[in-house]
Amino acid sequence: MAQKESIITINNMRKSYREVTILSGINLNIKKGEIFCLLGSNGAGKTTLINILSTLIKADAGTALVNGYELNKDTKKIRHVISLTGQYAAVDGFLTGRENLELIANLRHMENPNEVVEKMLRQFNLTDAADRQTSTYSGGMRRRLDIAMSLIGEPLLIFLDEPTTGLDPQSRIAMWETIRTLTSQGVTVFLTTQYIEEAEQLADHIAILDKGIIATEGTTQGLFKQYPDAKSLEQVFLSIVESKGDSK
Ligand SMILES: Nc1ncnc2c1ncn2[C@@H]1O[C@H](COP(=O)(O)OP(=O)(O)OP(=O)(O)O)[C@@H](O)[C@H]1O
Ligand SMILES: [Mg+2]
Repeated sequence: MAQKESIITINNMRKSYREVTILSGINLNIKKGEIFCLLGSNGAGKTTLINILSTLIKADAGTALVNGYELNKDTKKIRHVISLTGQYAAVDGFLTGRENLELIANLRHMENPNEVVEKMLRQFNLTDAADRQTSTYSGGMRRRLDIAMSLIGEPLLIFLDEPTTGLDPQSRIAMWETIRTLTSQGVTVFLTTQYIEEAEQLADHIAILDKGIIATEGTTQGLFKQYPDAKSLEQVFLSIVESKGDSK
């Protein structure tokens, strides 16, 4: 089988806040079109890594290529091909759902903003609520709107930082379907989650971030091969997080 092309390559990336080292040498290779899932305990550095890769903050050392562009040099080009849905929703509560989407469609200079907005409202099941202020939306609706906003402009690579935290099971499964649809269109998804089952259901490639490094990575099956005594992905995760002594 032909080797798939990489969309993210990270070499020895490091980041500290004052004297506290968060990332102490991250190496990672993510292929085009895959669903990549980063697992790690609270405070492991998942959001930090996403923020670095999406050009929001700078690493202290190391290099990365995103879609062939150098992270520290080609910031504009990288921003053009990625989207980020942060851990905390970026929706403006005073605007309606439709207005939030229109704002982004105009910022991204879409040729047919109204069409794009209607399509997103339909895709994310928000048509009925489109003209209500988003401060009246439920958490799940706000989350769906947030992701719809980040998809405007058809990015090649999507960062989703805990896209299903706080969603009910039905909305979580709907989000999984959306993520699968995106990858079937050739988009690469980089996601973090608190739910190990989610990684198991969705991910082509899982990496566990622990104590500043990628402690292990592979497909679900690959991880089971590495940890033959583990009966579930959760046990793999716990054996890694606990084996090195948790200092947090
Ligand atoms: N701007 C900052 N200044 C100082 N410390 C920070 C800053 N941002 C993050 N940190 C610290 O870096 C560590 C990693 O944070 P990060 O948000 O990346 O973790 P996370 O894996 O996303 O956690 P969670 O699962 O809770 O979202 C934490 O200890 C956090 O307190
Ligand atoms: Mg986080």
